[in-house]
Amino acid sequence: MSWNDSMIKQAKKIIKMYPQKRSAIGPLLHLAQSKDGYISDDSTAVISELVGITEVQVKSVSTFYSMYKQEPTGKYLLSVCKSISCEINNSKEIIDVVKDFTGLNNNETDENDLFTFEAVECIGACGGAPAMQINYETVEGLSSENTIKLCEWLKKEQPDVIIAEEMQDNFGGTKSFDWAIKDQSGTTGSVPGFQTFNTTKEKK
Ligand code: FES
Repeated sequence: MSWNDSMIKQAKKIIKMYPQKRSAIGPLLHLAQSKDGYISDDSTAVISELVGITEVQVKSVSTFYSMYKQEPTGKYLLSVCKSISCEINNSKEIIDVVKDFTGLNNNETDENDLFTFEAVECIGACGGAPAMQINYETVEGLSSENTIKLCEWLKKEQPDVIIAEEMQDNFGGTKSFDWAIKDQSGTTGSVPGFQTFNTTKEKK
């Protein structure tokens, strides 16, 4: 196994939370992705050994869910919603703006590994359509102008932590609704932010 002792320890702790080892596969894939930013063949082999199923079975789960990446992404994963509420609120233009700015087509990463672009299904922010996510942090009520400004800010500042609230204040518009508590924790990489996996951080 090529996961270090701390990863294996964390994995075993996760597995213990489930009546059957194989039920832990989802969080184990998240753990793998927090390590590499994607699900490597090596991690697939480790998970298969840890839970006692075949590598093909592990792969069948990791390839089914689009948030488990099969290859490394850029520092910033730009996920623009293309589903119906966003589509009727001009998401096509937002998608075009992002594609033009980055020079990328769907699921491509630039040569500097800065941006990966993807057009995705509903991200649960329909009331604030059109919406997109940067490293799974959501910004709603986008205009074309603000989307360009957002992309320019990312390229110039290259922040290590992406925080939804900060992007919403600086580049967003109408929101679905206001969350009760302002959340100042953000994501530290192009994977979803989970405290358990150390992929969240507060900006200093
Ligand atoms: S349709 Fe775009 S967030 Fe739901």
